[in-house]
Amino acid sequence: MSSRPSPLPPNALLLAPMVGLSHRPLRELILGFGGCDRVYTEMTSAAGYLSGAPYDRYFLDTGPEPERTILQFYATDAPRMIEAARKAAREIPAAGLDLNFGCSAPHIERSGGGVSWMKDPAAARDLVARVRDAYSPGSLSAKLRVGYDDDYARLRDFCGGLAEAGADWLVLHPRLRSEKLRRTGRWDYVRRLKADLGIPVVGNGDVRSPEDREARVRDSGSDGIMLGREAVRRPWIFALIRGLERDPGYRMTVDRAAVGETFLRLLEEHLPPEFHISRARRFFFYYCDNLSFAHHVRWRIQNAPDLKAIRQALAEYFEEVPGDREKVNR
Ligand SMILES: Cc1cc2nc3c(=O)[nH]c(=O)nc-3n(C[C@H](O)[C@H](O)[C@H](O)COP(=O)(O)O)c2cc1C
Repeated sequence: MSSRPSPLPPNALLLAPMVGLSHRPLRELILGFGGCDRVYTEMTSAAGYLSGAPYDRYFLDTGPEPERTILQFYATDAPRMIEAARKAAREIPAAGLDLNFGCSAPHIERSGGGVSWMKDPAAARDLVARVRDAYSPGSLSAKLRVGYDDDYARLRDFCGGLAEAGADWLVLHPRLRSEKLRRTGRWDYVRRLKADLGIPVVGNGDVRSPEDREARVRDSGSDGIMLGREAVRRPWIFALIRGLERDPGYRMTVDRAAVGETFLRLLEEHLPPEFHISRARRFFFYYCDNLSFAHHVRWRIQNAPDLKAIRQALAEYFEEVPGDREKVNR
């Protein structure tokens, strides 16, 4: 298999696509700390984009740094995905386009999207080749799981087809389709794919700290690491990882109240009011893990009727537990 120049920087750090979470406010918050090489939009339906789905301008907003932002689409059929790729190339500034071959949400899988492409390697390969022709402004990648069965040879053949068809890199979340977010991922498959493919392989799943990331890169040789939930808990984690790479004694002080407030401000700036409360609840569900007495404030936020009530819950929490406001991280 021929090697192409990598469109990813060495030791790349990527923010995972996450429905309801990796919208512009979170991405802007994370990019503001620095250290992250690529951020992904929330998964968006190719068919919906073609039909002018009402909220797509929010889902496909690649600000504030389109040059680092990857658009993730899911497709239920090839013709509409190819058309969507052509349209995105004309309309949306972005660093690249990613095809979702991993989602196992029942409504996506039933309609022929996400992980169901793994049932038909030839169709997935053909899709990648045709999207490659249709989309020239940026990279083309795919994100996938191990698939339906624990069968490395099948996974390797599937991924080899995508690489030959023109994918620039692959992200592997090494769990089976049926495992959702349960059980530890098979990171050994990241190592084996990296050795077997001629394109970069990025590993994803359960990286919770700079130490986890270092160990995963060391053991798997992966070209990059993608973080999802931990980057919601700690939007500064990419900056922390980069700081520790430069200096093992690096320490980073973060004002957790200010980060929460910045998130709420970005939410109000970039998403329509009807999204505010649901997106705030999702973000704080994870973010509250930073707090020593998370249970009570998380409960208040999950039941808050509006952002004002969330601000009040946070203000009262930090008044009661001032030591949680500024914390040194490592
Ligand atoms: C709330 C939520 C939404 C997700 N949405 C997407 C998505 O839109 N596209 C996708 O490829 N994966 C999606 N995923 C999977 C993540 O990208 C990632 O593979 C998974 O969370 C494992 O990484 P982590 O352990 O670092 O969180 C989602 C995961 C979560 C928790």
